[in-house]
This record gives sequence, C-alpha cells and structure tokens, in this order.
Amino acid sequence: MAKNLIIYYSRKGENYVNGGIKNLAKGNTEIVAEFIQKAVGGELFEIKTVKEYAADYYACTDEAKEELREQARPELKKYLGSIDDYDNIFVCGPCWWGTFPMAVFTQLERLDFTGKKVMAVMTHEGSGLGSCEHDLKKICACASFGKGLAVHGADAVRSESTVAAWAKKTAAK
Ligand SMILES: Cc1cc2nc3c(=O)[nH]c(=O)nc-3n(C[C@H](O)[C@H](O)[C@H](O)COP(=O)(O)O)c2cc1C
Repeated sequence: MAKNLIIYYSRKGENYVNGGIKNLAKGNTEIVAEFIQKAVGGELFEIKTVKEYAADYYACTDEAKEELREQARPELKKYLGSIDDYDNIFVCGPCWWGTFPMAVFTQLERLDFTGKKVMAVMTHEGSGLGSCEHDLKKICACASFGKGLAVHGADAVRSESTVAAWAKKTAAK
C-alpha cells in the first residue's frame, strides 16, 4: 500500500477572511492537511520558519511580498532530510501573493522527488491554486503530479468531505 506524506505550512493568527480581518486559532491549511491525513493516513510534516512573520496581517503581506520579490529561502526550524519512505507527497500551503510561501520551497528544494507522486493543495481567499502547480513542477522536476486542490480558506472547516474525496481519488494506491 502506498505511503503518504503531508507537508504543510500554515500561519495562525490574523488573516483576511471574506473581506475582513479575523484571528484564526488554527490556520486554514493546517485544518485541510489534517483532513487529508484523516482520509488517507500518513505522516504530517509542518514547515516552521526560524523568523516569525508579523502577527499583523498587513505587515505580514509586506514581508511575504518582499520574500517573493527576492525569491528568498527562509531558514526553517527543522528540515525533512529524505522522503524515500513515501510514495505520495501532498504539498499544502496558503496562497501568498499567488504562490506558496517561500519557506515551502526552502524545504522542497532539499528533497529528491524521483518516482514520487506530488499533489498541490492551496488555501486562498480568491486566487485558487495561483501559480503553485507551475512552481512545484519546476522544483519537483522528477515527480509525477496529481490534480491539485484549491480550498477557499474561509470554508476550510467545512471542506472535510471535499478534501477526503479528492485525496482518496488522487493519491496513488
Ligand atoms: C502574506 C499573505 C498573502 C496572501 N496573499 C493571497 C493571495 O495572493 N491570494 C489569495 O487568494 N489569498 C491570499 N492570502 C490569504 C490566504 O491565502 C488565506 O487566508 C489562507 O487560507 C491562509 O492559510 P493559513 O491560515 O493556513 O495560513 C494571503 C494571506 C497572507 C497572510
């Protein structure tokens, strides 16, 4: 049976939800990553940066924009050394200016995706998957790709059945 790894980045706290600022006790992507684990099993790996992003939503968007412009690779608290034990790799993150936070790429660039099936999951407030699948395909060049899933962040708590059906259908068996 195929083994699953769910790599995710998620930022709790102030975020933009349905046109206003809300304080999220748990990040939207973390909620979705846990739904994937519940549906198909596997390990969760949370990407955490050494430097915290601003708690203020707007200050955080400025920091993220600057990192995107620089194509920064922020340092992480912990790195996955290898994904040799897994077949399916779910890469989950929020949409930050149209793609994953740069910290996701910090981690992915260190891994060998040869023979793996990769699936992108993005939570967002309107941009859908943005360019994340395109960007993943450049970094995980030796992988095969399943159809990605976009989840409206504000609906993350209600997305369990959609996420579960998608994960079961898309992951290699
Ligand atoms: C720095 C930053 C940039 C964002 N940029 C976008 C964007 O370009 N498009 C979009 O639809 N949502 C954008 N959002 C909203 C988030 O993608 C959305 O709220 C997401 O569900 C947050 O997930 P999280 O709670 O797991 O971090 C942005 C949020 C932040 C904090």
